[in-house]
Amino acid sequence: MKFSHIALAAALTVVGFAGSAHAADDAVMNKCRACHTWEAGKKGKQGPNLFGIVGSAAGSNADFKYNKSSVLPDVGAKGVVWDAALIDEYLQDPTKFLQRVLGDAKAKSKMTFKLKGADKADERAAIIEFLSNNK
Ligand code: HEC
Repeated sequence: MKFSHIALAAALTVVGFAGSAHAADDAVMNKCRACHTWEAGKKGKQGPNLFGIVGSAAGSNADFKYNKSSVLPDVGAKGVVWDAALIDEYLQDPTKFLQRVLGDAKAKSKMTFKLKGADKADERAAIIEFLSNNK
């Protein structure tokens, strides 16, 4: 029984992503909602608008005022462009990601949220797939 539920959820996910990324399909983004929007043209909240984030340089949203001590724009300046693997790494531990990419053990993220661990891999994948289509 458990398996059929998972299969059904997977099937619904596929159907959801087959269409364009409309608001009705964005339940996978619930954990991001407090701090982000991903609707084109909307103002960012605590974090930047995530519309078109996949394929964009890190920290490069011209309409968002990154915190003055944010080092995320430095990551983009190094030529780092968000793809699925990098977002997967970032979501698990944003500070660790910045420290690795910048080679600076003191770097600290302004995003305090983590979606960490192998047990959350499917959740991250669904979020990343949503974001990939949201452009
Ligand atoms: C508690 C608030 C908060 C939550 C929850 C949150 N974020 Fe963030 N996020 C931020 C902030 C603040 C930044 C800017 C980080 C910085 O400047 O270091 C950010 C940055 C980002 C970036 C980099 C954007 C860029 O301009 O390069 C991505 C990608 C991202 N968040 C994805 C997500 C996703 C996906 C979720 C949900 C799973 C999420 N965030 C949940 C606050 C949050």
